[in-house]
Order: sequence, then structure tokens, then C-alpha cells
Amino acid sequence: MSIKKAIIPAAGLGTRFLPATKAMPKEMLPIVDRPTIEYIVEEAVDSGIEDIIIVTGKGKRAIEDHFDSAYELEENLLKKGKYDLLEKVQKSANVEIHYIRQKEPKGLGHAIWSARKFIGNEPFAVLLGDDIVQNKIPCLKQLISVYEDTRSSVIGVQQVSEDETNRYGIIDPLSNRDRLYEVNRFVEKPPLGTAPSNLAIIGRYILTPEIFSFLEEHNIGAGGEIQLTDAIEQLNKTQKVFAFEFIGKRYDVGEKLDFIKTTIDLALQRDDLREPLLQYMKQKENRNTPSI
Ligand code: G1P
Repeated sequence: MSIKKAIIPAAGLGTRFLPATKAMPKEMLPIVDRPTIEYIVEEAVDSGIEDIIIVTGKGKRAIEDHFDSAYELEENLLKKGKYDLLEKVQKSANVEIHYIRQKEPKGLGHAIWSARKFIGNEPFAVLLGDDIVQNKIPCLKQLISVYEDTRSSVIGVQQVSEDETNRYGIIDPLSNRDRLYEVNRFVEKPPLGTAPSNLAIIGRYILTPEIFSFLEEHNIGAGGEIQLTDAIEQLNKTQKVFAFEFIGKRYDVGEKLDFIKTTIDLALQRDDLREPLLQYMKQKENRNTPSI
């Protein structure tokens, strides 16, 4: 069975971006001129996903409105002959997106468990909104290919620096062939100095439906939350769960500085913005160089 369904959890409170996220979901914060979540949805669609379920919480209506068709706006753009903008607006309404609310913020594992009825008894994908990955072959598509070869759960990983390992789920790798790892242990946010490797889970997962029986237990893990990594660790004891070191540039848009860097990088990729932005940055650099 191929991977056709994906879960995007979007119920987090976005406290790191307050006050911007007081009345607006963090998933709607724009990078250049598109909300962050649109990059995630695009990766899913480009990877062959047909149905997406977004797990939302309080104050997340703007996400639903964004992926809805916007009749008045479209009419207006059509009348004004702004066809390029019209296409962009329509594109965001072109996927089958469903919504479910996570009633209490009990953690990532709980958010995924909330979507179990939508998934049913088939393997599925999970994409986390804080990680944007750019690559010719989308990150999720790479994981789907691995799934098609192994018919096992597969978790996207990348190397992070030693002093960051406490911010991630970390794998204890057994063997490695062509970027594919068998895993001894998955551990969520190990304290610094105790991480079994520097291979970190980066927000992309293919999971078999058996994961739900472990999420069902509602075990509390790191940070007092129900952790997806803990359920993956249990799953790995009953069926193989691989880790795949995917190819691609990863942007962590859950952190302020990285969010700004992402905005600059993605703006530099745009024909309309590249030159003026480079010029502006050059001016800044000159002004900031102390004169002797
Ligand atoms: C979550 C996962 C963690 C993973 C990380 C990737 O943590 O629990 O295993 O490494 O996403 O971004 P969070 O960043 O939500 O605390």
C-alpha cells in the first residue's frame, strides 16, 4: 500500500513567537509572502500525498481560511487581471485538507493519536511545521521511496551539532548502508552529554498504523508530554523502524534567528527580490564596518 495520507500537527501554542502569535497561529507567520504551513503542505503534495489532516487547536481558524477557496478575493484579482496572484491564491485551495482539533495540548504523540480515525489501518506520513526542507526530490518523497523498499516505518534524520542534541529526538544507530540506519534506540531530548549519537529526528516520518496502539497508552515522557518518539521506540521493539539521513537543506523555522535566516535565504531565491536584497545587505555591511 502506498502512502497517501499525511498528518500535520499544528496545535502548538507558538510561545517562542509571542506577541506575534497571540492572535495568529504560528503556522501562518509568513516567510517572504507565503505562510510557513504552505511550504509544508506543498512538500506533502509534491511527494504524492492526496489527503492531509491538520491537527489544530484553539485560535487556529486562520489556517482553515487560508486553504479554503476565497471567492471574493479571486473575483477581485480576476477583474484586475492579476492572473499570477490568482493562480497562487487558487493553488493553496487545491488539496484535500481535513481538520481535527486536539482538545488539550498534551504533546506531539497525543496530537498524532487524535488523528487515528482519519488514518485507519494504513501507513501514513507525518510532517512537522517547524522544519522546512528544500531539495529537488522532496524530503518526504525520499522517505516514501525507502518505505516502498522496506515496507517498514522510516524516520527522517540529519546530523546536528553536539550541543544541540538535547533539543531533538536522537537515534542510537546500529548499522548504516546508503544513509539508511537500523536503530537500537530512539530517545527524546536526551540531556546534553548523554546522546547516543548526533543523528536527530527532523520532523518527517512514515509510520505504520501499529504506532497507534502505543500512542493509545498515553505514557508521559520528556517535558511532561506524550511523546511520539517514545511510541516509536516501543514500535521498534515489535517491528523494524528505520532512520534515513535524507538529503536537503533544513530550515528550523521554530527558532527566531533561524526564521529570519530562512526568510533571507528564500527571498534570495526569488528573481524579484534577489538583487535589491543583496544591495541592501551590502549597504548594511558597509555602514556597520567601523571606520578607522
Ligand atoms: C519534536 C519531536 C522531536 C524532533 C523535533 C524536530 O520536538 O518531539 O523528536 O526531533 O520535533 O523538530 P519539538 O521541536 O516539537 O519539541
